[in-house]
Amino acid sequence: MYCVRKVTEDIYWVGGSERHLPLFENIHPIPRGVSYNSYLLLDEKTVLFDTVDWSICRQFVENIQAVLGGRSLDYMVINHMEPDHAACIEEIILRYPNVEIICTQKASLFMHQFGFHIDGKVIEVKEGNTMSFGKHNVTFIGAPMVHWPEAMVTYDSTDGVLFSADAFGSFGALDGKLFNDEVNFDRDWIEDARRYYTNIVGKYGPHVKSLLKKASSIDIKIICPLHGPVWRNDLGYLLDKYDKWSSYEPEEKGVMIVYGTMYGNTESAANDLATRLVEKGMINVVIYDVSKTHVSYLISETFKYSHVVLACATYNLKIYPPMLSYIMDMKALNLQKRTCTLIENGSWAPQSGGLMRELLGEMKEMTILDNEISLNSTMKEDDVDSMNDIVDSIIESMK
Ligand code: FEO
Repeated sequence: MYCVRKVTEDIYWVGGSERHLPLFENIHPIPRGVSYNSYLLLDEKTVLFDTVDWSICRQFVENIQAVLGGRSLDYMVINHMEPDHAACIEEIILRYPNVEIICTQKASLFMHQFGFHIDGKVIEVKEGNTMSFGKHNVTFIGAPMVHWPEAMVTYDSTDGVLFSADAFGSFGALDGKLFNDEVNFDRDWIEDARRYYTNIVGKYGPHVKSLLKKASSIDIKIICPLHGPVWRNDLGYLLDKYDKWSSYEPEEKGVMIVYGTMYGNTESAANDLATRLVEKGMINVVIYDVSKTHVSYLISETFKYSHVVLACATYNLKIYPPMLSYIMDMKALNLQKRTCTLIENGSWAPQSGGLMRELLGEMKEMTILDNEISLNSTMKEDDVDSMNDIVDSIIESMK
């Protein structure tokens, strides 16, 4: 049975959701599932905007057949070639052999790399090229590295619709509710949207900024991303989040404490610090166990908060491995502009603090506060003054 939604008079959402997949890209947990969005325009010509992941291809094909209602498919615009959107290109060609593919030169190259049989079918477009499908006129806008190099977005100036590829997307399956005004985004979606952005596109902040700049010069009424809700009002909310995330500016003044502990002693120090912060009035504090929290959640939270405290056991004279993995992920995703404090622990040779300082020092615009603490196995009364100094230095740095 087909399952579609109307986005405008002539544009239909023909994508789908899946809730089976445990890990997106085989890395990131998606307990709320994910949607793969695709859109179909019925004009003098019929135009499909991107395909979907192979896992929902059957639903996708039924959706297209239902909306086309016996018409043929004239064009397929491929904004992004990652297989979660491009997996069904050949299936569409098999079913609609006269379809022509509109994409960038690099996307065409990737189609060949993936082994697609597309010879004679591709219309290559460049930045600023336009096409008319009848009533609807579109402009193709380059979006390299948002999130692959071949990516572009397509702007339909007739309806003010931006087909935004990975930009403005989110993890999370769609429970029948397609539009942002049908959900409580700030309550139910923002965590997944942030985790999606920061882990998938977070590394490419300058490229996202460049796309935002281009987007600011066009009159966008509706944003149709490839994952998550379609935006048809309150666009400023989303654009503000993207502005902050792509600039690596924190959303909130607050302290994220991440601890790596083997036997609970470093965790105990983290709890002590959090309590002292709260008692001094800084109540926006969260604590995470680095061994129990998937790193994609840690990255997302690190983009959110202004201050990060890393409390870490020493392990084989090095940084506790799960903490090292988290720090390396921060580095890989280009995270910057945070204020950090370090707590190290060790029973015979505490070393993790110096090593973490070194790694954080290699990242851009990180402020590492001088006050830190080196614990021998457990926090004791003798350590209280140093812990209070840490609290004061964090609060002072927030002014
Ligand atoms: Fe959802 Fe970069 O693909």
